[in-house]
Amino acid sequence: MPDTSVNVLDAVRECIKRMKPYVPGKSVEYVRKKYGVDRVVKLASNENPYGPSPKAVNALKSVEAEKLSVYPETFPSELLSAIEEHTGWERERVVTGAGLDGVMETLFRLLVDPGDKVLLPLPTYPYYHTVIDVFGARSVFTGRKEDYSIDVNNLIEAYRKEKPKLIIICSPNNPTGNAEDEKKVREVIEACEKSVVFIDEAYGEFADFEKKSLKKLHSYENVVIGRTLSKAFGLANLRVGYAVMSEELRREYLKATTPFPVSTPSTLAASAALRDREYLNFVLRSTAEERKRLQKELEKLGIKVYDSSANFLFVDVHCNAKNFVEELMKRGVIVRDCSGFPGCGIGNVRITVGKREDNDFLIKAVRGVVNNIGGG
Ligand SMILES: Cc1ncc(COP(=O)(O)O)c(C=O)c1O
Repeated sequence: MPDTSVNVLDAVRECIKRMKPYVPGKSVEYVRKKYGVDRVVKLASNENPYGPSPKAVNALKSVEAEKLSVYPETFPSELLSAIEEHTGWERERVVTGAGLDGVMETLFRLLVDPGDKVLLPLPTYPYYHTVIDVFGARSVFTGRKEDYSIDVNNLIEAYRKEKPKLIIICSPNNPTGNAEDEKKVREVIEACEKSVVFIDEAYGEFADFEKKSLKKLHSYENVVIGRTLSKAFGLANLRVGYAVMSEELRREYLKATTPFPVSTPSTLAASAALRDREYLNFVLRSTAEERKRLQKELEKLGIKVYDSSANFLFVDVHCNAKNFVEELMKRGVIVRDCSGFPGCGIGNVRITVGKREDNDFLIKAVRGVVNNIGGG
């Protein structure tokens, strides 16, 4: 076979060549083998440890075989109705996609040309950086306040100077866990009227049972709010996300999306999950209780824990996070080292709130690490 590798690489876009490869977190299997531990608990990806509603699982099981060979609905009517009931957003203004990441990518296809600027406060969800790079866009970063809330003046000043196409506000923010104040975000939206403000509410349900959600801001022309079934609804593997935007913008969005972004099994399970209010409340209540308990226990071990409105805690372990996380893996616990995230500090770690028994296992492991290498 002729060697075509040089030509093939020549074809790759420069903006992709410049990017660093994505380094995924360690898997349970990897940690079990590498450190020879029997029990491994993964608290690194903000997944829902309770799993999806049994009603969603039944809906998935009920899918008829003949449905699998035909394309799904472009506008999944059952799912759009369920989203309308869950959020109060009119279905004429809602789009669905392959996870919130999929929706966000389409939003970029719709709005962002190479060289356009995207404004975002750091630290935040790392995948934004990937999408910005892939589209050949330019990032404009602002800092945050000490409690990691957005700095409104800073954002507005950057908007006036840089004229970004898009502003991204993640609330509750990954990895810091804080939910933004609605009044402050409103101020940004109103001052930055020539930019689209994308509010990422992947963790919106956890924000004090939606009391701190920003979903009421949907009626602004320049606002898009995104949500997902991957977190509070425990359906990360089915890849369902959605967003609300103005009817005019949605019309354009639909030209830019793939025609069948969500499969029928996914839409049926997602609809059932969104309608199972009782199960959702069980997940939210259990997560809030465990989050509070875990925060207290970690603080007792001398770790700085930031208040969280999500299903994870952002902490400072007061030592090198990379070593700390490695020591935890030796004890069978996988958490996320955030020290390499732009805008994070050397000691920052993100810990997903697990089930009670998993959190106990984590606390024991952290105690062992603190006694052994310090930190805390
Ligand atoms: C802030 C934020 N937005 C979006 C996503 C992606 O969600 P999805 O699984 O729906 O693509 C995540 C996933 O971790 C996230 O943390």
